[in-house]
Amino acid sequence: MTNARFITVEGIDGAGKSSHLEFLAGAIRARGAEVVTTREPGGTPLGERLRELVLHEAMEGTTEALVMFAARREHLVRVIEPALARGAWVLSDRFSDATYAYQCGGRGLDRATFRALEALVHPGRQPDATFLFDLDPAVAYERQRAQSRTPDRFEREAAAFFVRVRDAYLERARESPGRVRVVDASGTLDEVRARLADSFREAFP
Ligand SMILES: Nc1ncnc2c1ncn2[C@@H]1O[C@H](COP(=O)(O)OP(=O)(O)OP(=O)(O)O)[C@@H](O)[C@H]1O
Ligand SMILES: [Mg+2]
Repeated sequence: MTNARFITVEGIDGAGKSSHLEFLAGAIRARGAEVVTTREPGGTPLGERLRELVLHEAMEGTTEALVMFAARREHLVRVIEPALARGAWVLSDRFSDATYAYQCGGRGLDRATFRALEALVHPGRQPDATFLFDLDPAVAYERQRAQSRTPDRFEREAAAFFVRVRDAYLERARESPGRVRVVDASGTLDEVRARLADSFREAFP
């Protein structure tokens, strides 16, 4: 397979995105394509510094959205577009759907503002396929609690925040049914992986 593709994984904190990233990368490599695995916010040296700020420094909601999009612009120009141009597949742990979910759904950012920023930062570029790990926030919270690391600014949000984030993700999936594929992220890792494998085959037959 030579046609480069841009793939993203999305979902609330603790839904299981990172757990299945290597599996997806392997599924792509199995088709003979190079794969560049990356993440947002981050993906570039400057983007990683912005990530540290946005995950740990208090800031107003619109500022937060602007920082996310600033990091995204660097990521797009320095990593995503060059990789696609040389024929590699790009697999990113989060992209703009996360800003829609967290900043619009979670924080109440105006959707028209979001769309304007999206048009400014990545005109004409959307993922070819997005796997949305959909999970009850209470279950995601329990999964995360089992990890013993210090929660970031988002992970410390109340349950109601993640209910809104999940709903906004599902709203986005309804808006873009061909692109955003909802993967039921409940159950064991093996069960989720099997659903993801089916969804991947459907997206890239
Ligand atoms: N199906 C599952 N059943 C039980 N535990 C799981 C399952 N999937 C993932 N986990 C565990 O839940 C935790 C969160 O998973 P993971 O880090 O993959 O989520 P994430 O979506 O990447 O979260 P974040 O957005 O915070 O990076 C990890 O400790 C992981 O091992
Ligand atoms: Mg993760």
